[in-house]
Amino acid sequence: MRDEKGLMNMKSHSSVQPSPNDMSDEEVITCPAQPDPVFLSNLHGDGFASAYEQYWDDKAMAEMLAMTGVFVHQFSGGFIMTQISFETAEILTFAVLPGQRGKGYGAALLKAAMLHAFNKGATRMLLEVAPDREAALQLYRRAGFEPAGVRKNYYAGPKGKRDAFLMETGLGTELNFR
Ligand SMILES: CC(C)(COP(=O)(O)OP(=O)(O)OC[C@H]1O[C@@H](n2cnc3c(N)ncnc32)[C@H](O)[C@@H]1OP(=O)(O)O)[C@@H](O)C(=O)NCCC(=O)NCCS
Repeated sequence: MRDEKGLMNMKSHSSVQPSPNDMSDEEVITCPAQPDPVFLSNLHGDGFASAYEQYWDDKAMAEMLAMTGVFVHQFSGGFIMTQISFETAEILTFAVLPGQRGKGYGAALLKAAMLHAFNKGATRMLLEVAPDREAALQLYRRAGFEPAGVRKNYYAGPKGKRDAFLMETGLGTELNFR
């Protein structure tokens, strides 16, 4: 489902280097100046594939990308989208393709987004996550995120509504991944 334009786009921009243990030599995380909505929409659909999350089609993705302060860190099999507003950064969406999970790519994307947000002036990062997303919760805890509240009935889908956990961490020059 991934398109050539997206892959070429990814390779043509300057890269954020994760730590050497995070990713294989072939993969590079980039933060493109003009992310490709088609490439990201395909990753979003394949990465979530859930009855709860609404699929962001090309148009919806383009609208997200057009918002002020939105950045994407990506590689061929996943991406993280953040929005930075003054001292606060928020994770808007984050997905790695099922076949690429458990190899450290998610951690590398999260680290790149956290360092980037700090370098842009953010001192804290927020996110919402569904309580049943065990892998994401575990990764966020490892990255230092702590519970900061519950948003009732935050996610809507065919099976009904469900809550979201709100999580938060401070940002700095050093990342304290456990
Ligand atoms: C969350 C997600 C991005 C993590 O991507 P990933 O590339 O698998 O992440 P990593 O390989 O870096 O794993 C990071 C940590 O996640 C946790 N983790 C990974 N798979 C897990 C699983 N099946 N169960 C519990 N924890 C898991 C572990 O703590 C892991 O660290 P470890 O390997 O040192 O134990 C990926 O699982 C995903 O896309 N999930 C679906 C979409 C989603 O939930 N997005 C977040 C919404 S807020």
